[in-house]
Amino acid sequence: MSKLVITGGQKLKGDLVVDGSKNAVLPILAATVLNGGLNVIKNCPGLKDVHIMIEILKKIGCKVKFEDNTVIIDSSTVNSTVVPEEYAVEMRSSIIFLGPILSRFGRATVGHPGGCDIGPRPIDLHLKALKKMGTRIQDIQSGVIFSEAEKLKGADIQLDYPSVGATENIMLAAVYAEGDTYIRNAAKEPEIIDLQNFLNKMGVKVSGAGTSVIHIVGGNTKLNDVEHAIIFDRIVAGTYMAAAGITGGSVTLKNIIPEHINAIISNMRECGCRINVKKSELHISGPARPKAIDIIRTLPYPGFPTDMQAQMVALMSVARGTSIIVETIFENRFMHVEELLRMGADIKLEGRLAVIKGVKRLTGANVAARDLRGGAALVLAGLAAEGETTVNDIKHIDRGYEIIEKKLAQIGALIRREV
Ligand code: EPZ
Repeated sequence: MSKLVITGGQKLKGDLVVDGSKNAVLPILAATVLNGGLNVIKNCPGLKDVHIMIEILKKIGCKVKFEDNTVIIDSSTVNSTVVPEEYAVEMRSSIIFLGPILSRFGRATVGHPGGCDIGPRPIDLHLKALKKMGTRIQDIQSGVIFSEAEKLKGADIQLDYPSVGATENIMLAAVYAEGDTYIRNAAKEPEIIDLQNFLNKMGVKVSGAGTSVIHIVGGNTKLNDVEHAIIFDRIVAGTYMAAAGITGGSVTLKNIIPEHINAIISNMRECGCRINVKKSELHISGPARPKAIDIIRTLPYPGFPTDMQAQMVALMSVARGTSIIVETIFENRFMHVEELLRMGADIKLEGRLAVIKGVKRLTGANVAARDLRGGAALVLAGLAAEGETTVNDIKHIDRGYEIIEKKLAQIGALIRREV
């Protein structure tokens, strides 16, 4: 099992170009099924989750080539509507294939993604919307969903919760549906805007992404080939900002879109980081010791992102004062706390609330990543801790960070991967 070995105490210094967004590229990879043509996707991060999506695309018959962060997908050769169940277990985002395959072929079979480390991760909102569009859904056997619709019909869908995945699945299902689809209480994340831009290039009329009402004009027949560059990963950017904050470093991030990280910038400034923002660059200098932040709640965009919660817990664990962090999105997203306690953090958990009493220094320890962002938080803690920290089970981290040790070493971290 690979692990990362980190020697703490280095102030990070230097420039980093932020990679393309995992949560933008995954739905866009699924969307390439729609046009039965050529799709060139640039600035694609080389992540484990991306490789799994590429495996699925090949399994259903696409021709795929991936090199130098560009992936080329020819979906004219799709010859199956079945996403093998094992993929749903390996990566829950595979549910995003349901909408495009169903829309183009009238039927789709995908494994139920089931829960994951951070919560049960239901898909009721996805299925409820697809049923409203005329889909018949049945569980062929436990855990596999078969969906069929002679012709999907556009519908006016009110989401009970602004689910990112459900918003994306409905957008993709609506492309070949008869008539228009409206998604109300839609998720407003920047990754939804990137998906809209991709679909617009394909020739689909989609508008409203980034607001709570998205309108998709259905009834499409022939769609265009697409060339598209993925937006930057705002969570990876936030993670590097927290790395500068926790080490008192001075880091410049390039290839960012500042307004996508306003909530992160505001909290980083509140704990004492100095941040200058230029067009597509941001410079951050961490304080000698961060100040505690009274309360941070994770919220749907544009609120503070749940995907940055673990990183903030790590940062606040060495802050001056006591912070409260409330995880309002997922049921079980504090697994990093147990590991941080082993490094000398003083954190009390009360359901979805963490009370973090900052300590002067953490101590290096042998810890284990339990999920993607929790693993990143342990790396951050190791960067600041006294002595050596070993982070085990880093397969979780590789799902969302491209060679994290290379990027952090580039700005002065003492970190190495041991296989
Ligand atoms: C996306 O997951 C992201 N993943 C997650 O990032 C992110 O944490 C999440 O959005 C919230 O921002 C990708 O984009 C690939 P949701 P998704 O549907 O779509 C409940 C990371 O670390 N819900 O917005 O699964 C659900 O249980 C990952 O990069 C239902 O109840 O998130 C959760 O409590 C982790 N029924 C809440 O909504 C449904 O049908 C938010 O889920 C769907 C969701």
